[in-house]
Amino acid sequence: MNISITKTTTPKAKPTMDNLPFGKYFSDHMFVMDYAEGKGWYDPRIVPYGPLELEPSAMVFHYAQEIFEGLKAYKSKDGHVRLFRPYKNFERMNVSAERLAIPALDVDFCVDALKQLVELDRDWIPEQEGASLYIRPFIIATDEYLGVRPSDTYKFLIICSPSGLYYPEGLDPVKIYVEDKYVRTVRGATGFTKTGGNYASSIKAQVIAHERGYSQVLWLDGVEQKYVEEVGSMNIFFKIDGEVVTPMLNGSILSGITRMSTIELLKKWGVPVSERRISIQEIFDAYQAGKLEECFGTGTAAIISPVGELRWEDHVMTINDNQIGEITQRVFDTITGIQTGTMPDEMNWVVTV
Ligand code: COI
Repeated sequence: MNISITKTTTPKAKPTMDNLPFGKYFSDHMFVMDYAEGKGWYDPRIVPYGPLELEPSAMVFHYAQEIFEGLKAYKSKDGHVRLFRPYKNFERMNVSAERLAIPALDVDFCVDALKQLVELDRDWIPEQEGASLYIRPFIIATDEYLGVRPSDTYKFLIICSPSGLYYPEGLDPVKIYVEDKYVRTVRGATGFTKTGGNYASSIKAQVIAHERGYSQVLWLDGVEQKYVEEVGSMNIFFKIDGEVVTPMLNGSILSGITRMSTIELLKKWGVPVSERRISIQEIFDAYQAGKLEECFGTGTAAIISPVGELRWEDHVMTINDNQIGEITQRVFDTITGIQTGTMPDEMNWVVTV
């Protein structure tokens, strides 16, 4: 399919690229493609970024049939545009699509469309340390209908946001509240997908955690509320007595691409790493025994985020004296080095535009 390109005639003023907030500014163009039952995906186009016209009855507004992705583009010192593992994002988008009864996309086509969009908006890629062009592909159900069923029509869009760090703390450790009342998802639901509903249901707990002085919530499993799952904006890793542990993918945890990359790096370095079920009690026991050595989150937006404090019920666990740990720092340096091109990409993760 040929992608038509309509360039903006009124380019926007770019924001000051120093101290960019996350996800607040958007580049000049966006990619759009439509779907209709019987016709498939059609009319791929790059057009000026702007509002969508949708009927108030569009199904996405009522039953939240929608999915999204998040990935990043960086510009290396020699001016090359670098995408971090973009095929993995569109493969995961198809996993989410299957669960939400949304038609699949052609992964190679999507990466090609993304390359064209990012090339057109390459001047929007920030070069400041810690900043990048955050890319948000998403699909929404557009049928004008109030019954509950899969939509027959959809829109797929990609928008781009020059962004700074997701957590203002940067590499300063964040404080996380272990949620013991609400759950994010349950077995058999949509926890492993990137769909808005997972995030909508997490907001209330996050508000309460903020009020208590914590930046994020750590979710426990939705059955017994005993086992650690994820943070919502990131997957979670613990270093306990020399071994790095992260909750295994059990259907209710997002299969993060930074999570996957971290595990691959740790294995390459010969650091013991396991994906298994881990209870919050086991973490607390390790803490009390002086064996909880590091804790960090991984995510596209968050990259690698050290955790300095975990609060579980009345227990406050201060980790590594609230300092970033050695493994956390090494994973951060390596992943950001590969993303920005200051370290060799031995795993062939980067796709150059
Ligand atoms: C990402 O890390 O890309 C996400 O989609 C998480 C979101 C909370 C920003």
